[in-house]
Amino acid sequence: MLGWVHGETATVYRRGMGDSMTVPSLRKTIALVGLMGAGKSSIGRRLAQRLKVPFADADTEIEAAAGATIEEIFERHGEAAFREGERRVIARLLEGPVQVLATGGGSFMDPVTRALIREHALSIWLRADLDLLLSRVSRRSNRPLLKAGDPRAVLERLMAERHPVYAEADITVDTLDGPPDATLERVLTALVPYLGAEAVAS
Ligand code: S3P
Repeated sequence: MLGWVHGETATVYRRGMGDSMTVPSLRKTIALVGLMGAGKSSIGRRLAQRLKVPFADADTEIEAAAGATIEEIFERHGEAAFREGERRVIARLLEGPVQVLATGGGSFMDPVTRALIREHALSIWLRADLDLLLSRVSRRSNRPLLKAGDPRAVLERLMAERHPVYAEADITVDTLDGPPDATLERVLTALVPYLGAEAVAS
């Protein structure tokens, strides 16, 4: 199977079975892309647990590297400086151990980052409709781009600009309005041709 290293295995024990089975180790990082509110972090964390690999959130890593929140970075240094830091941090994460990586919504728009993701990762676009995105982003007010105007209008503009580029991801999954586990199941189903049914089984 494409996403796994031949010969490298991890042993897992199945509930209700006396003996163990082995699954191969994930060969490539899985990068989740998509707009703010698509569920990249929430699905990513669950996906990592399911695949038994670490999880990294690019925004959190950028904040740790900068010693400042994303809002502070935007306020003090501007978006261009944030994008520069984002490019560096994602490049570092892609060179690290295989993991599930939730990227920031704008990062896949950067041609260098996009090329690196294509080279080092399997990318999944979590696609969501406008109303779902709006309802999700309204729960938190820490996204500088959404403070620049009416959030619906901003998201509409970003959808028009970004969707054609997100469509370059290896896999597209439509997210569901409901418990994250339902969308997670869709992601796992979409991964079967890449990783094999055994690899994504619970
Ligand atoms: C951004 C998305 C945010 C964060 C920053 C800019 C964007 O990440 O990186 O506020 O340009 O779409 P999330 O997609 O995780 O919210």
